[in-house]
Amino acid sequence: MWRITWCLLLLAATCWQRSYTKESENPPSPGHVSVVIVGGTGDLAKKYLWQGFFHLYSTQVGKGYTFSFYGGGLSPDDKGTLLLFEILKKLKCPSELTAERCALVKEQFLRLSQYLQLKTVEDYEKLSQQIQQQLKQEGMVEAGRLFYMSVPAFAYADIAAKINSTCRPPADAWLRVVLEKPFGHDFGSAQLLATQLASFLKEEEMFRIDHYLGKEVVSQILAFRKNNNNLLEPIWNKHHIERIEIVLKETLDCKGRIQFYDQYGVIRDVLQNHLTEVLTLLTMSVPANLSSSEEVLKNKLQIFSTLEHLERKSVVTGQYQSYNEEVQEELNKTKDYISLTPTFAGVIIFADNPQYDGIPIFMTSGKMLDERVAYARILFKSDIFCVQDYDSVNCKPKQIVFYLGHGVLEYPAILVSKNLFKPSLVNSGWKEVTEHKDVNVLGLPLSDYFIQTPVVPKEAYYELISKVFHGRKDSFISTENLLASWAFWTPLLDSLVRAYPRPYPGGVANGDLLNFQLRGREVAFVNEAVVNVIQQGQEENFQVMQGKYRGVDMVSAWATELVERLASDLQSAAEEAIRDEGQFHLALSGGSSPIALFLQLALHQYTFPWHHTHLWLADERCVPPTETGSNFRMIHDQLLQHVRIPYFNIHPMPVLLNQRLCVEEDGGAVLYENEINQLVNASSFHYILLGVGEDGHTASLFQDSKLDESAERLVTLTESPSKPHQRMSLTFTAINKARKVGVLAMGRRKHELVTQLSRIKGESARYPITKVQPTNGNLIWYLDYDALLG
Ligand code: BG6
Repeated sequence: MWRITWCLLLLAATCWQRSYTKESENPPSPGHVSVVIVGGTGDLAKKYLWQGFFHLYSTQVGKGYTFSFYGGGLSPDDKGTLLLFEILKKLKCPSELTAERCALVKEQFLRLSQYLQLKTVEDYEKLSQQIQQQLKQEGMVEAGRLFYMSVPAFAYADIAAKINSTCRPPADAWLRVVLEKPFGHDFGSAQLLATQLASFLKEEEMFRIDHYLGKEVVSQILAFRKNNNNLLEPIWNKHHIERIEIVLKETLDCKGRIQFYDQYGVIRDVLQNHLTEVLTLLTMSVPANLSSSEEVLKNKLQIFSTLEHLERKSVVTGQYQSYNEEVQEELNKTKDYISLTPTFAGVIIFADNPQYDGIPIFMTSGKMLDERVAYARILFKSDIFCVQDYDSVNCKPKQIVFYLGHGVLEYPAILVSKNLFKPSLVNSGWKEVTEHKDVNVLGLPLSDYFIQTPVVPKEAYYELISKVFHGRKDSFISTENLLASWAFWTPLLDSLVRAYPRPYPGGVANGDLLNFQLRGREVAFVNEAVVNVIQQGQEENFQVMQGKYRGVDMVSAWATELVERLASDLQSAAEEAIRDEGQFHLALSGGSSPIALFLQLALHQYTFPWHHTHLWLADERCVPPTETGSNFRMIHDQLLQHVRIPYFNIHPMPVLLNQRLCVEEDGGAVLYENEINQLVNASSFHYILLGVGEDGHTASLFQDSKLDESAERLVTLTESPSKPHQRMSLTFTAINKARKVGVLAMGRRKHELVTQLSRIKGESARYPITKVQPTNGNLIWYLDYDALLG
């Protein structure tokens, strides 16, 4: 049956040939272009690519270029031809063409399109020969070859190798190879793929597509910023912008795509690429020449370099409830299989640069939400206080919304609230919308906005295919751009490997479950009532384990949760001490383990009672406090400079006296001891936080430290086996007088010691830490899973 239809089409195409010949009598052909869609009968090709190339053809036919189109696939020719025909016959007419003209152009397009099996290197050789033969027979000059790889990413390198070895055109024609995401899974894999591809293709030959860059509104963000520069420039900064939101909400689930989706999740699927691209376009400096791919790239990389590092707490994640069943079904897993892949994420991003410093940039996306919509919103600060007449436009949000499509508006548009300014149109292909539907967009009725929209809406794929054809690289992802984006996202993705996403029912039933809020520089779900577990029958607080170690209490967890728990324990101890005595005396040690804790304390500075806290040092290296090796310098940089602690509550160890470091006669240790005796009730600190070295030392008390003479002393000078050798330290006497002592050990490097110590009962001269035995207080060990389990 298909053969008959195909033949009818061929007949129709013969009629076309006459008109084609006529049209090509126009200017001499700039050359012949061969388009090859590898994976030409797959889903993407079926939905978008053929339609895009058909549209391209309809705009180019008669302008000189000639074309042939090949759909490549793994199926044998007869099966593939049938599949391709089914796709091609459904192609829709571009709106610029009349029905009659379209029918004609479609016939021509069908005539020029054919299926080819593209499996082996010989198949690619045959393709190349066929192209050459056709060129020769028809006396055509070759303009170029465009390969579109619509295949899974694992096949890219192999196909690129085949194209490179068999299908390169002669030197005066171009080769362009289009690739679709995913471009790797994290920084390492993206780099590997980039290196592999670079051995077969030149950078200028590769066109990595992000279809968001083809969306009309996204592609005009820079033009909008440039055209309205006079009005925007004074307000496009931290003094005027309150927040930026970049949002992609979807209603669909992941059914049918789990094989792919479960390995990627929402952050890799859309945040790392589509939404990050929008972020860069909103925040990069506007290039002087918008179509210069070099300048666009340079400015993008510049903004990437200022994005602040993302932490585990920069994100909240969720997973719709039926996701696990879909995974079990599509991946053939048993009923107890649990996937931790997030289908929802809300992230907070900050840029550390003078223009945007401190502006929260919210980025969010999820499957199975209440509506399908994508937008970026710049909300400006308002200095107006409305006493009445709240409906006047000046009392309403001041904002610019880049509305990518769908949602209540249903069309792509750029909206500027009327209390800001009237923008100019981005280009002649756009028009102002003056008739408004009765809907609200982000808090404002449409009549409160100036709205512009494309005159003729165009498909993102068509836009990008057309740019590839014209060799314009400014809307594609270069290798450097790609790696910069992965470098930004990978640490966050790594930190989420074992994180449990919050389950959500899907659709409107989600209610406020996924609403999240900014807390300092972190985000958290607004509604905390939900227990963050998805497996029933587990301990509520399964992420933190409590037990005994060396006969005393131990808390263990992955590093992030452990540090959170320690920070919260410290806060409880502080609150208790202040309630009872009005003050909290805390002694901190140096080392690398507490850095994460300091960061956590700095982030929660508003709730921690710093005003009534006295901060002491458990030990110090005999170096000037300005040197990076100084414990005080480290505590200053990581914690003190971020928190509001009164200066007179800070008690560094006096290692530098009389312009000398730790000289016995200068009496630094005695001075510190006196200060403790004067200020700390019974010289008993409320909390001493210690670390432990791989050799078992703690504070600056080493195996060979001669402490006997200083048995009753609280502070002493000691010698370290490693540099800097001279140290000042609290003694065991001071430590063991404390009400609470915490020992924090994190990382695999501590595992061996932690194991050794667990075998030793009581004290051991070899391991000073074993002498920490608070007389009337509590000792508690904080060990992360790496230290505990190795
Ligand atoms: C794709 C993602 O890249 O973008 C999909 O893989 C997502 O999961 C889609 O649904 C969103 O694109 P659009 O154009 O529908 O907003």
